[in-house]
Order: sequence, then C-alpha cells, then structure tokens
Amino acid sequence: MNKPQDLPLQPAHDFNDEDSNTSSNPTFDSIVSARLSRRSLLRGGVGSAATAVLGGLTGLGVAACGGGDDDPAPVPAPAPAEALLAFGAVAKSLEDKMTVPAGYTATVLLAVGDPLAAGVAAYKNDGTDSGFDQRVGDNHDGMEYFGLSAAGAPDANGSDRALLGINNEYINQVFLHRNGPTPNPRPAAETDIEVDCHGVTIVEIAKTAGKFAVVQNSPFNRRVTAATPIEFSGPLRGHPLLVTKFSTDGTRVRGTNNNCGTGKTPWGTLLTGEENWVGYYFRAAGDQALRTAKANVALARYGLNATATAAAASRYGWETSGADDKYARWNTSVTGATAADDYRHEVNGQGYMTEIDAYSATSVVKKRTALGRFAHENAAFGKPVVGKPLAVYLGDDARNEYIYKFVSTQNWVAADATAANRVATGDKYLDSGKLHVAKFNADGTGQWIELSLANPTVAGFAGYAFADEGDVLMHARLAGDAVGATKMDRPEWCAVPGSGEVYFTLTNNSNRRFGAVTGAQLNPDAANPRVYTDIRGAATVQSGNPNGHVIRMKENGGEPGATAFTWDIYLFGAEAGAPGNVINLSALTADNDLSSPDGLVYTPGTGLLWVQTDDGAYTDVTNCMLLAAVPGTVGDGGPQTLDFGGGNTVATRMGKKQTATTLKRFAVGPFDQEITGLCETPDGKVLFFNVQHPGEGTTFANIGDPTKFTSHFPGNAGYGAGGATARPRACTVMVTKNDGGRVGT
Ligand code: FEO
Ligand code: CA
Ligand code: CA
Repeated sequence: MNKPQDLPLQPAHDFNDEDSNTSSNPTFDSIVSARLSRRSLLRGGVGSAATAVLGGLTGLGVAACGGGDDDPAPVPAPAPAEALLAFGAVAKSLEDKMTVPAGYTATVLLAVGDPLAAGVAAYKNDGTDSGFDQRVGDNHDGMEYFGLSAAGAPDANGSDRALLGINNEYINQVFLHRNGPTPNPRPAAETDIEVDCHGVTIVEIAKTAGKFAVVQNSPFNRRVTAATPIEFSGPLRGHPLLVTKFSTDGTRVRGTNNNCGTGKTPWGTLLTGEENWVGYYFRAAGDQALRTAKANVALARYGLNATATAAAASRYGWETSGADDKYARWNTSVTGATAADDYRHEVNGQGYMTEIDAYSATSVVKKRTALGRFAHENAAFGKPVVGKPLAVYLGDDARNEYIYKFVSTQNWVAADATAANRVATGDKYLDSGKLHVAKFNADGTGQWIELSLANPTVAGFAGYAFADEGDVLMHARLAGDAVGATKMDRPEWCAVPGSGEVYFTLTNNSNRRFGAVTGAQLNPDAANPRVYTDIRGAATVQSGNPNGHVIRMKENGGEPGATAFTWDIYLFGAEAGAPGNVINLSALTADNDLSSPDGLVYTPGTGLLWVQTDDGAYTDVTNCMLLAAVPGTVGDGGPQTLDFGGGNTVATRMGKKQTATTLKRFAVGPFDQEITGLCETPDGKVLFFNVQHPGEGTTFANIGDPTKFTSHFPGNAGYGAGGATARPRACTVMVTKNDGGRVGT
C-alpha cells in the first residue's frame, strides 16, 4: 500500500508512515556530509508518456503494446534457449488499463468478491454484497502457486491445475459499501464485511480449453481471515505476553492481518507476512499509566502510541461495533483486572510470518514465531541444500527498519520436499532456529548478528530488559536496536535467484537527509546512499530517497548459516532524465525507468527477476508497473563515491548499470493502483500478478458519482459487472505469450 486513505472521523493516515525507530544506532564513518545545506536536484526530464498502442485489444479488452519491430515469429515449441527480454518494452502510461507487450495477452482471472463456494451469488459490485468469508478477499498482495496433478494431488510440476494462495492485505473501503463506510460507531455488518475481506484467499484454478479459470466449488477453496482462529507455534507459544481473554494460555489468536508479501516453503506451503497490523488497534488515552514502563517502550517501538489525553485511533474503528468480543478485541487497552480478562495483549498476536497448508482446507494455521515479530513483508528461502540449515530472508517494512535472516536448527532433508504432513514439516524447520539482523558496512561487507539472549549485547540492552527468548522474538526491533543493525530505506520484498544471492527492495525513504537530523531522520549511509529532491507534477517536492533502490547480498562461502556477507546495490530507481552521477545511477532509460520498487519475485521457469512498483513519486508520469530483469552478481559494478555537492558525498558499492538486455518494462497497470504479487506456472508459460487498490484515491464523498472514480478497472476491461462505470476491484491478472512460449522471453 502506498496512498493515504480518508477514513471516517479520523485524519488521513498512510500506514507506511510508521517510523518508530528513533534508536541511536551508529551511522557510518563513510558519511562525510556534515554540511547543513541540502542541494536540490531537480529531475532533468520526465521521459516520454506517449503510449504506442500497436497490439490492439486482446483478452478482456486488455491492451497489448510494444515497440512494434519485434513481433515474435511463431514457434511450434519454446526452446530452452529462448532469449530473455526479447519483448518490446511497454511505455509508461497514465491510462486506466493493463498494458502488456505486443505478442502477449493479459486476462483478468479473478477479482475481489468472486464466489468461492457453490451457491454463492455472483458479485454485484454495487456495495450490497456480503458473505466475504466465501468470496475472494480484497486488495490482493503477495501470491504463490501450488501445482496440482490432473487428479488433484499436490504436484510441484502441475501447470494445468493449481491453487493460488493470495494475500488480501487491506480493503479499498469506499467501494465495499453501498454509500461508502459509515463513520464510527461502525455498523457491525460493515465491520464483518471488512474483517472478512482481510487475510488470505486459497482458490483453485484449472485450465478449460487451454485457459485458466476459477473453480468456484473446489473443496480446496478457503478463506483465512482476520477472524480465523490461528495457533501460535514456536518459542512464543504459551508466552505470558500472548495471554488474552480469548486464549488464557497464550496459544491462540484470531486472525492473520494486513497480509503483505508471501513466501513458498520448500515443502510446498504458503507463508504470509503480517505487515501494517499495528494500525488496526485502538489504544485508549491514559493506557500507558496502566502498563509497566517496559510495556510502554515495546508498544511505542511498534508504533502504538497513546498519551494521557490522546488515544491511538484504529484504522477502521472495528472496536466501535459493539460489546461482542469479536469487536472488543480491537481495543488493545488495559480494561480488565488481568491480561486474561481483556485484550491488552491482542496486538502482540499480530506481526508474524504465518504458515498455511493450501493443499488442505482444514489444516491448522500456525504463526511461526521463531521468525520474529515486526512489519513482515515477504519471506524468501535461500536455496535448500541437503544437510545444511535453511535460511529465510525477511524484511521489516517501515522507514528505518531492518533486514533479518532466520536460520533453521534442522538441516534440510530432500525427502521433506514431498512430505505428506506439511504442517509437521513446518514445525520441524520453522519452530526452532536463530534470528539474525543485518548490518551493512561501508566497505561492501556485512554481518548477520544473532538476536537472542546468547548475544550479550541483546541480553544487556539498556533500552529494554528482555525477559526471555520469546520477548526477544516478539520485540525483534528492539533487539535490532540493541546490536546497531542498519536502518534501511523501508525493506519490502526479498528474492533469491538461481545464483543464491539475496535481493531486497528498499522502496523509498523520505527521512534521509544531509546535515543535522532530528527524530526519525537519518543521514545517508553506504547501503542507503541517496539524498535528493524530486518534483512531482507542478510543485510537489519529495526529498530523501524518493525513488528507492534494490540491494543484494552474497553469503560468505554461499553458506545459509553464514554470519557475514558482501553486498552491493543492484538497481537504483530513477527517472530516465535524472542526473546520472547521483540519481540515475543505474542508467535507466524510457524503457525501464521506475520508482519505488516493492514486489520482487524470482521465477525459476524463466530465470527472471520481476520488479513491481508501489509508487507515489513518479505517478505524475506513469501508473505503477512490472519490469522483468536478468539478475547479475554481487560485485559486477564496483565502489563509487556519490558527490551530491556542497561537500555531501557518500561512498557506496554499485552493481553494473542496467541495459535493454538486463531490465525492461513488461506491464503498466491501470490508474491509482500498485502492481504486486507474482507467480508463474512451473512451465513458465502463464504469469500471474495482482492489481491492488485500483481507484483508491476516490474520496468517500464521491461514491455516488462514478465519473469521479479514479479507476474503473477491471470492469472497464470487461470483467464482471459495471462496465466502463464500474466500481474498481483488486484483481489477479494472468499473462500468456501468444506463441505459447515462456513469459518474459
Ligand atoms: Fe504491504 Fe510493504 O507493502
Ligand atoms: Ca509491498
Ligand atoms: Ca509498498
């Protein structure tokens, strides 16, 4: 998510604004900037917004577009040697449609509200639908593919029948209700819909006449929502800080919430990351007087502040819907005699990496607490090696937060890839291990620092006295503060291509600046080296690191359990016309310039790395997009000192510059949305990705006037009810190559 929302009876709030990391971690010696002056670097051009529509309408009114001189010759069967990135780059666009290269077809596969069980009515999309626990949830985010054989058994190579596991991060609230949302106190019926629109959707898809479609009555179909009972697993199970009125032994909680990125385990289950969950909770004014000093430190570090006179408002006001526990639990204040009498610890039940076995609609869902609690984006496994531990890479998406790695206690056993009991396999690898946090050094090296009481720096932290190992995991941010982890420019997705190196998107950070800093502001450092000013539209000034970058890491010795790594910056987001010495460092052109990289997924079927944007900086020129990349290797560029003028220089480690053979724009989405979540069929011939929150900028006041909706996608592409004046819907798009080849070639 990126855009602010206008919420009933409360101020607009961007849930990625959370920046509670004001710890005094050291900055880098390499920062030579001490000058107070900040030099404005106006972008040198806006690139071409012209769209060369050549392919005509394909699929459901979805346009194909491209360079025009590269129409692929039909081939009977794709050869392994198909050239990657041979498609024509899609031009930047502000149109309200999905554009893919010439020679490709994009089709809407499913959208929020689509029925997931027999007998559930088709989605009317007029704000009167209900029963979302049996419909596709809202605002699709991360997504994973789970292959099935023709007979419906798990099959890692199944390319004709499968399950999609789709995160439903939050809601495009204005469009879920007939007249937009009712202000607080929220009607229970509206809250029930909104709670059920969150979580995860498991949906079967199967090919009919060669094309995937949803199987509405599949027994695999399942919704796990913000109300579904879930077990805690691992070190925090039964922890005193998880005791609530609902679970007096601290073993269970209701719901997985604000599900952002995903991961797929080597044993074929879904990992879903709980990201901006903290904003869902109400904390009463004066609550801090009823807590220990330590508890207040912990709540503040996760962004849940209340003062003696000001409450922390909840995002949607769900706690105002009545006395029933299912509403009251969203008030995470001290209201009872003990923790077992109220929901003071309810907020401690979110912020985990949660595992779902998509292949069993009745399987137990587990929060894997050993992977730490923070604003989880996704989870990417290192390449599993028999006899070695598994590494899981994790990002905490808020400004100035950290990058983490979990290393399993158990060594990988190949047979576990097809183990029948996938939940037990998750217990084996994800309930015991060591959590680490990353520290990036200016010389291109880095350390993974263990976060446990075995680390004396954690055990002796003056800022917070950790009670036990569970406390360390629940408050991993504080443990990261203790060891001086590197504050990053908002870690979003991570991905591990075939090389085994680890790529992390750092989407942007408005808090970077040269000179004196206060509060959450930071000077740049080697791993987050850019500070500049960009102008959006006529006059909106955005400063810090407005366009984001992608950092990558190589484990020492290629070992999953390595405690040291080398790193460089693979890609700098920038406008093509921006100065090449400090902003457009990756030499981006009109065919591949981008801003705010967020989604990042490696697809083994083609060997491509897909970069998705969730941007608010370049949106005067283009809607958010999907780019295909050929990954390189750490060290393929070299050391470089960036001179921002005025004595402000930053030394960093660059990857090689991008070219038309390494990075190319593959799709541009409709207006006022982000492109996120991506997976492919094992044969590489069908690519799926999500369109999240189209039309989100539509204000509540305009719900009655479709001419004022900022998007009508995918109704205007012929999907579902409403046509050209439809309410917009988050949706999943599938893309195929017209010649039957692999997507991205
Ligand atoms: Fe849900 Fe960090 O994006
Ligand atoms: Ca994201
Ligand atoms: Ca984002």
